[in-house]
Amino acid sequence: MYTPVRIVSGMKVVVVPDSDAASQFAAGLFVDVMNSARQRAGRAVVGLATGSTPRGFYAELVARHAERSLSFRNVSTFNLDEYYPVSPFDDRSYRSYMQRHLWSKVDIEPNHAHVLDGTVPEAFVAAHAAEFERWIEADDELDFQLLGVGRNGHIGFNEPTTLSVDEALRLRTRLVDLHPVTRADAARECGGFDRVIPRALTMGVATILSARSILVLALGSHKAEAVAAALTGPITAELPASLLQSVAEKVTWVLDEPAAGALAR
Ligand code: F6R
Repeated sequence: MYTPVRIVSGMKVVVVPDSDAASQFAAGLFVDVMNSARQRAGRAVVGLATGSTPRGFYAELVARHAERSLSFRNVSTFNLDEYYPVSPFDDRSYRSYMQRHLWSKVDIEPNHAHVLDGTVPEAFVAAHAAEFERWIEADDELDFQLLGVGRNGHIGFNEPTTLSVDEALRLRTRLVDLHPVTRADAARECGGFDRVIPRALTMGVATILSARSILVLALGSHKAEAVAAALTGPITAELPASLLQSVAEKVTWVLDEPAAGALAR
């Protein structure tokens, strides 16, 4: 079926009826990028996200793997973020999320699946964050980055800030405090507000924006306001997703109709 693509602030925007169609469309784009990177370079390097948004996307990848149309051989993955501190065995950790939703169900090699380490002693966090960036660089940078968007417009855990746009565009992988809206939204996944871990390690804005292609997946009416502001509002560090406009030519947004609800038709 033909799905129309709109251009908004230089970025491609695809709107499909519901979350299943969005997950399938996003999975199709992901597989295309992965296959062309493997053809070009012999391998693909992809950035992944967690949270409620990509669950259907991962289910679609798992289904394609089960029917043998998709393999993760010669693929390296780098996750956007991880709570800090957290054990990989804690079911709130994003490493355990990835294990549950993707890695235990596909043929990825364990030493090709990277998540920032929530067990690093705090004195070594900066060195670990720099090392994570070096791993990405050593893999010749990300071919693809999957993003969700927070209700407050965060990408990864780059939260709204009063930094200038130039400063925000230079942010690298680091330890951050989560914004109150992010903590409130994490309560469901973490089993209650009291169980939300208030800090996290996150890929920086600069790291994310240096990916060769970026796919933002947003589902549900609770994302509509942030989506419309990121696509059509000013570029500002107070809404980190708007920073994507600065690399517009490589960004595609895939939205279900409720998430596109605040965009002009
Ligand atoms: C997750 C991440 C976050 C989420 C965002 C949306 O790895 O980096 O930016 O993508 O908080 O979360 P959900 O999908 O739960 O609405």
